[in-house]
Amino acid sequence: MNQFKRYLITSALPYANGPLHIGHMAGVYVPSDIYTRYLRLRGRDVIHVCGSDEHGVPITIKARQEGVSPRQIVDRYHEMNKASFEKFGIAFDIYSRTSSPVHYQTASEIFKTLYDRGEFLEKTTPQYYDQEAGQFLADRYIQGTCPRCSNENAYGDQCESCGTSLNATDLINPRSTLSGSVPVMRDTTHWFLALDKYEPFLRKWILEEKKHWKANVYGQCKSWLDHGLQPRAVSRDLEWGIPVPLESAKGKVLYVWFDAPIGYISATKELTGDWERYWKDSETRMIHFIGKDNIVFHCIVFPSVLNAEGTYILPDNVPANEFLNLENDKISTSRNWAVWLHEYLENFPGKQDVLRYVLCANAPETKDNDFTWKDFQARNNNELVAVYGNFINRAIVLTHKYFDGAVPGRSELTDYDREVLDQIPQIKEALENSLELFRFREALKEAMNLARLGNKYLADTEPWKLYKTDPQRVKTILNISLQISASLSVLTMPFLPDSAFRLMEFLRIDNIPWDRAGDSDLVEEGHVIGSGGLLFEKISDEEIEKQVEKLLATRDRNNLPPSALVPPKGNITYEEFSAMDIRTGTITDAERVPKTKKLLKLTIDTGIDTRTVVSGIAACFEPGDIIGKQVSVLVNLEPREIRGIKSQGMILMAEDPQGNLVFVSPEGTVENGSSIK
Ligand code: MF3
Ligand code: ZN
Repeated sequence: MNQFKRYLITSALPYANGPLHIGHMAGVYVPSDIYTRYLRLRGRDVIHVCGSDEHGVPITIKARQEGVSPRQIVDRYHEMNKASFEKFGIAFDIYSRTSSPVHYQTASEIFKTLYDRGEFLEKTTPQYYDQEAGQFLADRYIQGTCPRCSNENAYGDQCESCGTSLNATDLINPRSTLSGSVPVMRDTTHWFLALDKYEPFLRKWILEEKKHWKANVYGQCKSWLDHGLQPRAVSRDLEWGIPVPLESAKGKVLYVWFDAPIGYISATKELTGDWERYWKDSETRMIHFIGKDNIVFHCIVFPSVLNAEGTYILPDNVPANEFLNLENDKISTSRNWAVWLHEYLENFPGKQDVLRYVLCANAPETKDNDFTWKDFQARNNNELVAVYGNFINRAIVLTHKYFDGAVPGRSELTDYDREVLDQIPQIKEALENSLELFRFREALKEAMNLARLGNKYLADTEPWKLYKTDPQRVKTILNISLQISASLSVLTMPFLPDSAFRLMEFLRIDNIPWDRAGDSDLVEEGHVIGSGGLLFEKISDEEIEKQVEKLLATRDRNNLPPSALVPPKGNITYEEFSAMDIRTGTITDAERVPKTKKLLKLTIDTGIDTRTVVSGIAACFEPGDIIGKQVSVLVNLEPREIRGIKSQGMILMAEDPQGNLVFVSPEGTVENGSSIK
């Protein structure tokens, strides 16, 4: 690794359409932060860039659901997520956003360069179009019946009932979720990156030169390459996004996965005028931290773009993680099945390190893993409190008790002392080796092994029993314990920065250079340490039960049958609405229409006249029960003959998804013939 002069660390840009949760943290940001802090501590030239991914269809859908603009959505979550990262101690050098002007410019330029070089194919294909809404429909904007399981509310990209991934054209009875209308096919032109053309480059670069990549990453890449790459559209028909920088591309934007990774470049530009040194010099080591669902974009698509552009470096490694589950269930933003970072920070103030610890100790590095609140509590109480915290506390308390807080000197060492002192640099080396290989769980385990070593050393030597008889021995034991403590303040710093800083305060020491960690003379004889405190606190059963109950309440809500409400219809003008003449009226008579099951013949006093209305409500109402009821009547509906009876108007009813009907009646009694508007 030493042929590299500097490091460029990127963390996947989270979508600004919802808050961050523990899955994001475990998969991407805890590891990238540990790695970056480690490199900084070692004095390497490193920058860590990230930001909000602010384009894409889910953001526009969320905006529609809330009746606000996409801008408002991304502003809200950008600020929120930026603040959560900061509070959690993820130390990016910059947290930018893909709506920034620099990013628009950077992404447009790269598109233009590739376009001018003829790297794109232009293809015209038919796509679903909503005539009422006047726009092409992204797959997520189309619903219909799943061809597999007959779920009537499957989406154009996936059926959430049976999990099948779909094409919009697979849906039976497709409908637009924008207007409810039936979409039609219409031709549209897009630009495609000819990935197949880059296959030889990718095969050589990945399959030959990147054999050391994590098995899950290498395996996924190999499988993509073995299946053969297809051209991929890099534009979309959408109103939200970076406009395709071509005259002929009105109303088209760059596909979110084309622009988002370029966000790493834009963020670097915003961070430093010296950005090209990081992006265009082969002595930079670029590392992408991502989750497994991002592998193809970071290992195949983005490198193809960079390679085609020609002046940029490629990632040296992409240590993607698998997924974290929560209490045995997939984390899901839409089902609210998550531990939200901002809620955690509120519920457990000052305990960032506990979550960082649990997420790293249980990181889904080689397979999906499960987060449970019980495990969270156990790791805090049995590891952080009982081992690390207990060791530090004992070392500090005993130093005060016997030596007024002044570090005692060492005298003759026993074999055990020497063995313990020798182990410190060995642990440090093992920790470094693990970190260099992106094995964060293993590295954290080494840091904890140092705390365990100290804890065991005190338990074995029992200095509290020796002071009366052998104060010299107690001095040596506490000196060694304090040397271990000082090394811990350095070696835990990448993982648990907040408690490492507190430990430095306890010991009244300044930053010790990384290379000195492991030495046996980090705190000098006579140096007076602080009075200490608790590095970690026990977490009670009640606190954990509260969190579990919160999740169980979510599960209950999720198990309610899905509502089958029909999507909203397209907009109408006020004129169209006011063309309807709706009045209050009273049902003065009601009888069944012979030989029908559904129809009642109603006589209505509309205030303006008395008229007959035939209504399909017999399944829900007995004629005798509704006489005298005041209702709403559409009085200017064209008269129609139903079963030989002239029906003049319509009674307004509310119908729920199960087909139950209730009258839409004025709340109090008003004069018949009053207008409803
Ligand atoms: N927003 C994407 C996700 O959450 C990640 C984008 S990473 C980038 O899956 F490279 F595109 F920026
Ligand atoms: Zn299905």
